[in-house]
Amino acid sequence: MPPHNDLDLDNWKAYPDILTDSLWLFDERERGEGHSADYHGNFVPQIPNQLMRRFTRKGETVLDPFLGGGTTLLECLRLGRAGVGVDIDADATRRARVRLRSAPNEHGVSTAVVTGDAAAARTKAAVRKALGEGGSAQLLILHPPYHNVVRFSERPGDLSRAPNVERFVEMFERVFDNLADFLDRDRHCALVVGDAYAGARWIPLGFLLMDAILRRPAFALKSVIVKNMSGNRAKRNRENLWRYRALKGGYYIFKHEYVFLFQKCGEESS
Ligand SMILES: C[S@@+](CC[C@H](N)C(=O)[O-])C[C@H]1O[C@@H](n2cnc3c(N)ncnc32)[C@H](O)[C@@H]1O
Repeated sequence: MPPHNDLDLDNWKAYPDILTDSLWLFDERERGEGHSADYHGNFVPQIPNQLMRRFTRKGETVLDPFLGGGTTLLECLRLGRAGVGVDIDADATRRARVRLRSAPNEHGVSTAVVTGDAAAARTKAAVRKALGEGGSAQLLILHPPYHNVVRFSERPGDLSRAPNVERFVEMFERVFDNLADFLDRDRHCALVVGDAYAGARWIPLGFLLMDAILRRPAFALKSVIVKNMSGNRAKRNRENLWRYRALKGGYYIFKHEYVFLFQKCGEESS
């Protein structure tokens, strides 16, 4: 099977910063290249950066159905990959477009931002158009809301408004089934997600969504990566309060998220 990246394995020691362990510890959010922490709920740029360098070649296309502040597409510009991002929140896509316009684009790659519910047929048509000639993507990065931990918008299709966890999983599945078709066979899909806590119970959102993808026979699980959460805005400066609550309530404070990595081994893309 081709390596699906630009790494020269005859010279494999030249890439000490490419992670190969399943524990990802980042000291702090990388800045520059148009990135900023002002979109509440964005992931650190190191996540799409690692995934793209490992699982795409220059000039290939990355699809992100939950674009948020645009982190994935900013990394596309930095790394010379084309990118298509979708978000249901028009304010988020407007801000992402502004960031993309003012970010450096040394490789001259094209990025497209689509506003719409990633589960909708109309959005699928817009993504197909944005993907252009080849009509497919070589990496899919999914970073959905962690149910209602952060409420992103008032749009009815927004996963962060799902009335319960079962519905949240169903809504995620609708997005996945709508857009995972565009991923080429043999290529990778990464799901970035954290868990939630509600009603004095740990809700394993990560494993529930992982299981939802595993129920699609075309997708094989390749890795479960645990990533540390550093500088979480909600908890910053309130460490002692959270520690007290944890001691009192008999639970542990979230310090990790997951990156579930899958490979599409089934039918061809649409
Ligand atoms: C966790 S954030 C993604 C953050 C992003 N990775 C970044 O770095 O900025 C999840 C995003 O999913 C969007 N979203 C929720 N439901 C959606 C849906 N049905 N279709 C498209 N986007 C949706 C929210 O508006 C939010 O921006």
